[in-house]
Amino acid sequence: DKGYSDSVIETLRAKVNNMEAELRHLKLNMAMQKKALVFSKGTSAAEKLYVTNGEEATYEDAKATCTKAEGQLASPMNDAENKAISILSLQYNKPVVLGIDDKQNEGTFKYLNNEKIVFSNWKPGEPNNDNGVEDCVELRTNGIWNDMNCNSKRLTVCEF
Ligand code: IPD
Ligand code: CA
Repeated sequence: DKGYSDSVIETLRAKVNNMEAELRHLKLNMAMQKKALVFSKGTSAAEKLYVTNGEEATYEDAKATCTKAEGQLASPMNDAENKAISILSLQYNKPVVLGIDDKQNEGTFKYLNNEKIVFSNWKPGEPNNDNGVEDCVELRTNGIWNDMNCNSKRLTVCEF
């Protein structure tokens, strides 16, 4: 007989039911955690959660901090994400260093994964590579971008 016995099907049915219940519980719990985190010190856009430690750091230091936290330096890929980061910038009244640079090829800004950026919010006249030493990007409290020296210290915001 190739068919599964009624008892095997019954056992599987019970397991699937249990898993569905656990999944519902997990989803509710995750949503609760996210709400609590956003309420206390973060912002979110769709699936991304942005959190700051309140510290100002250089691009490399901020990048390392976010990697150590198993996240990555804030890399807005659309207007909603950019706004979520700018809320933190405004709350702390500090510009934010983004996970974007043109170190490899002047004028070609890329994310940390080496992909070209798909979204930008440059101030008119930027990026200007002022004095030829601006390969990093700051997001100012109004959400507008400026290319800046990578050694400048800006607010660290990680995305998770
Ligand atoms: C500069 C200006 C400029 C911008 C540079 C900044 P500073 O500030 O804001 O518009 O393009 O990135 O360094 O040096 O005049 O205080
Ligand atoms: Ca600039």
